[in-house]
Amino acid sequence: MESSTRQQIPATLIPGDGIGPEVVDATAHILDALGAPFIWDVQHAGVAGVTHSGDPLPAATLDSVRRTRLALKGPLTTPIGEGFRSSNVRLREEFQLFANVRPVRTIVPGRYDNIDLVLVRENLGGFYVAHEYYVPVGNDPKAVAVATGVNTRDACTRITRFAFEYALKHGRKKITVVHKANILKALTGLFLEAARDVAREYAGRVEMNDMIVDACAMQLVMNPWQFDMLLCTNLFGDILSDQLAGLVGGLGMAPGANYGNDTAIFEAVHGSAPDIAGKGVANPISLLLASGLMLDHVGQGDLAQRLRAAITETLNTDQIRTRDLKGTASTNEFAGAVVRRIANA
Ligand code: NAI
Ligand code: MG
Repeated sequence: MESSTRQQIPATLIPGDGIGPEVVDATAHILDALGAPFIWDVQHAGVAGVTHSGDPLPAATLDSVRRTRLALKGPLTTPIGEGFRSSNVRLREEFQLFANVRPVRTIVPGRYDNIDLVLVRENLGGFYVAHEYYVPVGNDPKAVAVATGVNTRDACTRITRFAFEYALKHGRKKITVVHKANILKALTGLFLEAARDVAREYAGRVEMNDMIVDACAMQLVMNPWQFDMLLCTNLFGDILSDQLAGLVGGLGMAPGANYGNDTAIFEAVHGSAPDIAGKGVANPISLLLASGLMLDHVGQGDLAQRLRAAITETLNTDQIRTRDLKGTASTNEFAGAVVRRIANA
């Protein structure tokens, strides 16, 4: 019914690998129940890209995102230690998606209650540029491995300003800058220095402090409520966002958004979960919540709120949960229950 009164928005849909197609199907089904706010252009990437067109990031996929400037993406498998370069990283670079936002919130009370945190991750630099090489010694071609990280003052300033603007827009009070400036004095020292410079412009409106990453990892376990927003370099943000997911029930509960100046790609924090792929048991909530962030992004916050309410009611009133949340529902059973909640709201 909404589809007749609202303009449908063209968007690219990338099913991805492993559990990707399962959680993408569930999400698309639930969005249909919300009035199908997006018209999908389905495209492939990752191992599915190789299978479909011999390329982990096919030209058709890039062309589609260039056209829509908006995508919902399932996880993409990246070979470990060898093989093609991450299609995720390439997509972020191609569309200059410099800001990765990963919010976590307690929906099902578990080990921790009342968690409400947002991690902002610099998404293009740091060690993720993966400028790496081996130095051969004697007859060992891999005797020495070298990696170089790259952070620019401009990129550090840009991500910090993004984080502070996000804080103002979303009523957040404090940003903790996470770094390792005691050891990586240049790479993460520059990040901290740029962050401190930007923070002065926001003094009195948003507070800033900083923490060394290892201490931060411990503090997140001991007392996560001391944090409001975390601002991280690329690699630390990758690591700590999985840890944040662990505070709210695991990787099935953690959405992510990659923002550039003119393009945004929404995804789950988790990967393709090969251990449960094809079994129909994956929790689709991470990708569902990511689609909620996508609805917020295109000005359909009312639909996003309805989606989030339906998820909460399915989990807590109907007590329908996938097995990562100690329930018994399959991916499709959970999705069906969310659809019923939307229909009966
Ligand atoms: P993973 O996040 O896929 O899985 C880690 C653990 O969490 C597994 O035990 C998995 O079963 C569980 N899990 C993840 N998502 C779940 C869900 N929705 N419901 C229930 N359980 C869930 O991490 P892993 O195994 O280290 O990586 C697998 C592949 O995914 C790798 O090729 C990696 O490169 C890729 N990856 C891709 C990402 C992306 O596309 N943005 C992000 C992270 C990893
Ligand atoms: Mg990760």
